[in-house]
Amino acid sequence: MERTYLMIKPDGVQRGLIGEIISRFEAKGFTLVAGKFTQLTRELAETHYGEHKERPFFGELVDFITSGPVFAMVWEGENVIKSSRTLIGVTNPIEAAPGTIRGDYGVHVGMNIIHGSDSEESAKREIDLFFTSNELVTYEKTLKQWI
Ligand code: PPS
Repeated sequence: MERTYLMIKPDGVQRGLIGEIISRFEAKGFTLVAGKFTQLTRELAETHYGEHKERPFFGELVDFITSGPVFAMVWEGENVIKSSRTLIGVTNPIEAAPGTIRGDYGVHVGMNIIHGSDSEESAKREIDLFFTSNELVTYEKTLKQWI
């Protein structure tokens, strides 16, 4: 089963959107595998966004992502990498479609609420960067008769 790395950025956390965002991924049918409320060091942020280090906004991006706590997550499900990017919406919230997370809640290209891995390789790299293998929890849904 495919996995992806999602991270609610400091703006999403400070606007109280953690619950709303988790609900959207649950409602879509994906399964939460790991979650961590944490503040990134500059070193971790620079590694995570390393592929963008030559871009003009790199410093701004690192400043922003380290400015406050984030909620880091791993989600599992069929085509979860591509589907998450669809649920999140395009990078610039002004261009993101209504109904997507960025389209519904964002206005600024830097403060765009949430990050989602863009490929299988990125997902593996990012999951390994933020979580140890024993923080990834898989389980059987055995309580159907009660819930
Ligand atoms: S993507 O998702 O990689 O295709 O997006 P991309 O447009 O290449 O942007 C890479 C990440 O940089 C963020 N970004 C910016 N931050 C600050 N200022 C400006 N102008 C800006 N433009 C893009 C963008 O949100 C991407 O971060 P993540 O966390 O992957 O969404």
